Amino acid sequence: MQIGQPSRTAQRAAAHRAVHQLLEQGRIFHDPLAVRILGESPRTLEAEAVANPGQRGMRLFIAARTRFAETAVAASAKRGVRQLVVLGAGLDTFAYRNPHEALRVFEVDHPATQAWKRQRLAEANIAAPDTLTFTPVDFERVSLAEGLAAAGFDAAAPAIFTWLGVVPYLTEQAVFATLGFIAGLAKGSEVVFTYSDPPQSMPARAEGAHGRRAARVAALGEPWLTFFAPQTLHPRLRALGFGEIEDLGPTEVSILYFGAPAGSPDRKGGHLVRARLG
Ligand SMILES: C[S@@+](CC[C@H](N)C(=O)[O-])C[C@H]1O[C@@H](n2cnc3c(N)ncnc32)[C@H](O)[C@@H]1O
Repeated sequence: MQIGQPSRTAQRAAAHRAVHQLLEQGRIFHDPLAVRILGESPRTLEAEAVANPGQRGMRLFIAARTRFAETAVAASAKRGVRQLVVLGAGLDTFAYRNPHEALRVFEVDHPATQAWKRQRLAEANIAAPDTLTFTPVDFERVSLAEGLAAAGFDAAAPAIFTWLGVVPYLTEQAVFATLGFIAGLAKGSEVVFTYSDPPQSMPARAEGAHGRRAARVAALGEPWLTFFAPQTLHPRLRALGFGEIEDLGPTEVSILYFGAPAGSPDRKGGHLVRARLG
């Protein structure tokens, strides 16, 4: 991220969710606040998306990851989990639509991004509910433990963490510091996150497309730093105590959310993971 500036990729992800409501009627993920929180003209958003059809894949992936995460949050709330931590929240709107009265939400984000979000919420007239606590933390400088403790998080009670579109932007050390912290929490705690296969593991054409996307985010000042192969990530998660791991790769995501597998059964790209302790 650029010093003192809100995350530009958070703005891009929010624009994808908004366009998904406009062009696909929120078919994968319905978010009644997505357009409003962004504060951009729907007509301009739609025109830009139509002029850039290559963005459709990323838009649908972002819709799918949010749906996957909110499905896990609903299941956690049902089994009695009372704390949700939205890590690197960007313009995520779950906290403002939270249907679970007893679920406390901690929105953790870089201080500059969070200040921009609060301004967007005020301008869009979206009220922050009492169940929400804003928790500014720079993952590279302050430990999540310190940030959450200051916000009143109960480290002895189980929690679910969602961490969407953030892991690739962090160093591997920062990623494992956060996973290690979650691993030390109460049994039944869960984390949902996204990661990407290493570009070297992709066939030449996919690697080329990946390289172009990587160049775009690097130009926004937010380069991708960290990738994982599932066969090396899963043992590391298990070693931390995550006994239940669900990992959907590109083919599973296509089948589950887009209605059809696209390409070979072993495609490389973005993954959706849910890992539970115990
Ligand atoms: C691609 S955005 C994703 C935002 C959101 N999760 C979504 O899906 O729309 C990446 C998020 O990671 C946050 N982030 C990146 N580096 C960070 C850091 N060092 N500390 C805290 N947050 C960070 C940014 O502020 C931004 O909100």
